[in-house]
Amino acid sequence: MRSVDHYSPYLPLEGLDDGGSEGAGRVLINDLGRHAFSTGAAVRDAVERVLGSGWYVLGAEGKAFEREFAAYCGAAHCVGVANGTDAIELGLRALGVGPGSRVATVANAGFYTTTALLALGARPVFVDVDPDTKLMRPAELERAAAGGGLDAVVVTHLFGLLHDMDAILDVAAHAGVPVFEDCAQSHGAARDGRRAGTFGVAAAFSFYPTKNLGALGDAGAVVTGDAHVAERVRRLRQYGWESKYRAGPGGGRNSRLDEMQAAVLRAKLPFLDSWNDRRRAIAARYSREIAHPKIQCPPVHGEEFVGHLYVVVSDDREALRARLASACVLSDVHYPVPDHRQPALAGLGDPAELPVTDALAGSILTLPCYPELSDGEVTRVISCLNTW
Ligand SMILES: Cc1ncc(COP(=O)(O)O)c(C=O)c1O
Repeated sequence: MRSVDHYSPYLPLEGLDDGGSEGAGRVLINDLGRHAFSTGAAVRDAVERVLGSGWYVLGAEGKAFEREFAAYCGAAHCVGVANGTDAIELGLRALGVGPGSRVATVANAGFYTTTALLALGARPVFVDVDPDTKLMRPAELERAAAGGGLDAVVVTHLFGLLHDMDAILDVAAHAGVPVFEDCAQSHGAARDGRRAGTFGVAAAFSFYPTKNLGALGDAGAVVTGDAHVAERVRRLRQYGWESKYRAGPGGGRNSRLDEMQAAVLRAKLPFLDSWNDRRRAIAARYSREIAHPKIQCPPVHGEEFVGHLYVVVSDDREALRARLASACVLSDVHYPVPDHRQPALAGLGDPAELPVTDALAGSILTLPCYPELSDGEVTRVISCLNTW
């Protein structure tokens, strides 16, 4: 990995607090302008390197990023693709998921896995979540698997919290189906030193610009310990080619990670852990210092949480949102419409019964939590909530 001491990832924080940038005075839900400012020098180097190389798709930068990101995760293989949804689709296809397959997944994770399943001709089997962690409940997965007929399980480490995988892996092993991890929100999250993306047979990452590791556009990757799965994804991402212009069986399409995005991701990867530390510290402050009877905060977590989104729960969500807005603090809802309620699934039978998922969709609220948020802004958010 290249040296990182030629610039500071937090360079502009204090200066940007009060003026100059768009949204000054407001606390934004995310601020990619600050992120671009703080990473600018390294990113510009990377872009110029690619520009001068004369090679823009599937080249040395992509290979190097795949090597470096696999090493970061602690996985044997990484295959870059065009975005996170493709990573789920191609990763699952490489595991044999296809038309008619039934895949267990949650319905509170933004419809991305469901989009991939629909593209594969597979059917989502929705499993309810735990009200505290907001992650798949192993007991509900066991119920879904009880009758047989499942072909795979997708576990989403939502909001940056690595699922406690033992129980899920046990249920899946008992059912004889592979586990696939959606790590789009959990880059670097770890339990006992083992990082997200290394628990299942394979995993998908998104590097959408707002992710903990974000590109300057769309990008994604499949990470796996299985050389055959990696090889299948390599073919699937490029027309199914076994060699140039020769498509093998099993289909494929164009979903390549370009050199520019790979180089940008290489430039940023050395800072991921420090960004995750900062996210975790902001989240810990919120959890310790927000004290209001109508707001439930997540507990303070350790390395298993990388603070992708800080989500509180309140039965009075809209009033809480309005209170924040009145103090120029922006918030968001991830996600307002659970998958099983999306019109895109109308006609595929009655919606699943997911009482916890439904209740959370009406009560969750995301607060600003990103590395470039200043301590003063975090204090502003906290006092706004505590004086509600
Ligand atoms: C949990 C989750 N899964 C999958 C995706 C899909 O990633 P992408 O937007 O890169 O397709 C995202 C992000 O958008 C996500 O948050």
